[in-house]
Amino acid sequence: MEQTLAILKPDSYANGNAGKILAHLEAEGFTIRGLRVVHLTEAQAGAFYAVHSERPFFGSLVEFMTSGPCIPVALERENAVKGLREVMGATNPAEAAEGTIRKLYAANIENNAIHGSDSPENAAIELAFFFSSSDLIAAR
Ligand code: CMP
Repeated sequence: MEQTLAILKPDSYANGNAGKILAHLEAEGFTIRGLRVVHLTEAQAGAFYAVHSERPFFGSLVEFMTSGPCIPVALERENAVKGLREVMGATNPAEAAEGTIRKLYAANIENNAIHGSDSPENAAIELAFFFSSSDLIAAR
């Protein structure tokens, strides 16, 4: 079993799509081990996306991620990191495969409904950004 971090982004929260996306993830075999509703500060969003700080879209990304509440979710499944990225679809919803979360719920490359960790190493870092280990429900 592997864990990964998803964030249901502010567009999903504002549009009332969070429950549908969580149901989609559960139907794809993910178990929810932790979940929060948070309104990120500029400093928090900037720190989370620090790897993109030199990219031209960084300011806009931080503005979007602080525009309203979002929902970080700790997910567990076999092959969770790769599996989540398949279920999410391409970053740009215009390029996302039919039936993926971004094809179904994202408006554009910025308002793209969901974030998912891109490697097991980053999943560990990103899970720790939002959850302490005592926050995560253990498998039983
Ligand atoms: P995410 O998977 O959360 O990781 C970084 C985010 O930057 C990405 O999703 C997009 O929402 C956002 N972004 C905005 N503009 C771009 C762009 N031109 N290329 C890649 N990512 C972008």
